[in-house]
Amino acid sequence: MKRFNFTRLLCCLAVAAAMLSAHAAGDANPKSGSPYDIIPIPAQIVASQGTYTLPAEGVKVFVQGAASSSLADYLKASALQASAEKSRSKANIAIVIGKKGKKPAPAEGYTLTITPKSIAISAATEAGAFYAVQTLLQMTQQGTLRTIDCCTITDEPRFPYRGLHFDVSRHFFSKEFLLKQIDAMAMLKLNRMHLHLTDAAGWRLQIDRYPRLTSLAAWRPAETWQQWCDGGNQYCEQTDPRAHGGFYTKDDIREILAYAEARHITVIPEIEMPGHSEEALAAYPEVSCDGSGKGSDFCPGKEATFQFLENVLTEVIDLFPSHYIHIGGDEAGKSKWKTCPDCQRRMKEEGLKDVDELQSYLIERIERFVNSKGRDIIGWDEILEGGLAPNATVMSWRGTSGGIKAIKAGHDVVMTPGEFYYLDHTQDAPFKEPVSIGGYGSLEITYNYDPADPSLSQDELKHLLGVQGNLWTEYVPTPEHAEYMYYPRAFAVAETGWSRAEDKDYSHFRPRAVALCAQMQKMGYNTFNLANEYGNRRESLAPVDHLAKGCKVTYNNPFSKQWPSQGATTLTDGILGGWTYQDHKWQGLLNDLDVVIDLGKLQDVHYVGASFMHLPGPGVFVPRMMEVELSADGKQYQSIGTVWNDIDDKIPNLLFKTFSLTCNRQARYIRVHAQNGKAFIFVDEIIVN
Ligand code: ACM
Ligand code: ZN
Repeated sequence: MKRFNFTRLLCCLAVAAAMLSAHAAGDANPKSGSPYDIIPIPAQIVASQGTYTLPAEGVKVFVQGAASSSLADYLKASALQASAEKSRSKANIAIVIGKKGKKPAPAEGYTLTITPKSIAISAATEAGAFYAVQTLLQMTQQGTLRTIDCCTITDEPRFPYRGLHFDVSRHFFSKEFLLKQIDAMAMLKLNRMHLHLTDAAGWRLQIDRYPRLTSLAAWRPAETWQQWCDGGNQYCEQTDPRAHGGFYTKDDIREILAYAEARHITVIPEIEMPGHSEEALAAYPEVSCDGSGKGSDFCPGKEATFQFLENVLTEVIDLFPSHYIHIGGDEAGKSKWKTCPDCQRRMKEEGLKDVDELQSYLIERIERFVNSKGRDIIGWDEILEGGLAPNATVMSWRGTSGGIKAIKAGHDVVMTPGEFYYLDHTQDAPFKEPVSIGGYGSLEITYNYDPADPSLSQDELKHLLGVQGNLWTEYVPTPEHAEYMYYPRAFAVAETGWSRAEDKDYSHFRPRAVALCAQMQKMGYNTFNLANEYGNRRESLAPVDHLAKGCKVTYNNPFSKQWPSQGATTLTDGILGGWTYQDHKWQGLLNDLDVVIDLGKLQDVHYVGASFMHLPGPGVFVPRMMEVELSADGKQYQSIGTVWNDIDDKIPNLLFKTFSLTCNRQARYIRVHAQNGKAFIFVDEIIVN
């Protein structure tokens, strides 16, 4: 957004000043709707004098150049309830679609001109006109505010791919829920709905050739994902009175697709392979390595597997017009492949040196099949391991490095890094939020991520298709909870995907997000309440000073290579961790923390303490005990005591435990030893006073 166009600003200083005073960004109850309040913020806004007032009823719209009645139908059904008008001069809103002049207009771009007399929209495509209408709908607060500020908006998206992901496997969400979210996506100018249709917890798509996928694999004798895990991951027949779950029929999907298409949203289906496929194996055991139907991975050694996957994909491709077919590819365990005779034979015949190459064999073969149907595959960044299928597009989730690597290898990429764009992470202080998978992704963290990594050249950036927010639903059992996790963070994804990087400014965005949440609540969405946001762990907000700050730490047990934080200086750098170890301020260690801090000289020591994280989901536990020993010479140590953990391992919530000991001694060396003997320890600063 050009918030101020300086030449115009000089001419229209009075107008702009009046406008700014009337509209602090995000004013919840303005007298007139402002373009400065909308999300995503437009590329260019030129303010002009006056306002335009839409009639309370009987809005008339003139549409020229549309190939179908879709836009007119949408406007009629929208909050504006605008009916078609043949005469341009009698219309309140005039929409002209089609190419103008020599310079090709951006495909999804538009110009929206609001004068005291009329509203005019021009766009090269129907999508562009549709987005102009979305801008208008937001300015009018979904039709509830009839007076809007005069201006000219010239707008276009930064990226062609602006997505939101829906995990309908871990918990099944109804067709109606998806239709409602399509409306929210359209409002935010998001244009890709990624449906994660298959995973261990349930297969969610009718496949005519394989009815067991929906008569068995879509059902479980447990309502929530957690109960299902606790009960040993059982499936049951659809007819079982205990059955929970569901699936979309092909007619349901056709309805979703038509609704999405009218809102310029492409629905991308994901069929997971070769991992995350327990439910498919349970329904069709012949595609598992040992024929038992147990395990998570399809057997890439068997031809039956390829017949199954190709038959399924044929029906998926027949149903979904999406150019991209998502084939998953993430987190395959591959362990059975190491001993399965079929897999071993395949590896020998194909000259594959390890199971990663066997996964690549499967992905490349599936890619050839999908390509033969005129479509392309997209997959999670694990598809890079063992060699990437030649035409594949990568969805980068394990940080950003996989995406950057794929771009540099000439592949198209959608950025969806877990740290910023996993909307299943808690968005506020865990003590006030529902149990989540862990992680901390506040609106600000989500907003401030920029996908254009500085290491990418202008040419390479052409392969960056865009961004997507993902909501995995292990801990999200209801539609209300899902909306709570999506909004407002989907606003941040939308603004990053649409608006210009140089216009992003969290302090301007936040009040707009507060106002849009209020608007969405009136529309019946259950959004997070930003007004009650607590923010990050207080300890992490400012550095702490203490006796050991900057002192050397020696590790008797090395820190984890995966979670080193800042390496050997982490435990005494004065920086405390936030709500997640993904902030790189917590140090990870396997089983044991055993370190010696050298204070440099003999000092009076009265307090030694450290905080630990408890998060059972990813296997992070507070140590059973922590012992502190002091020494004057680094040879003879004396214990000042041991403290024990009293947090029950089974509590699923994120918790923190500070272990501390007090004493009145002199020492130069401090040994801190903490043990849990079974999993990851994440430790914060070791504070000595
Ligand atoms: C993923 O989160 N496993 C893609
Ligand atoms: Zn096998």
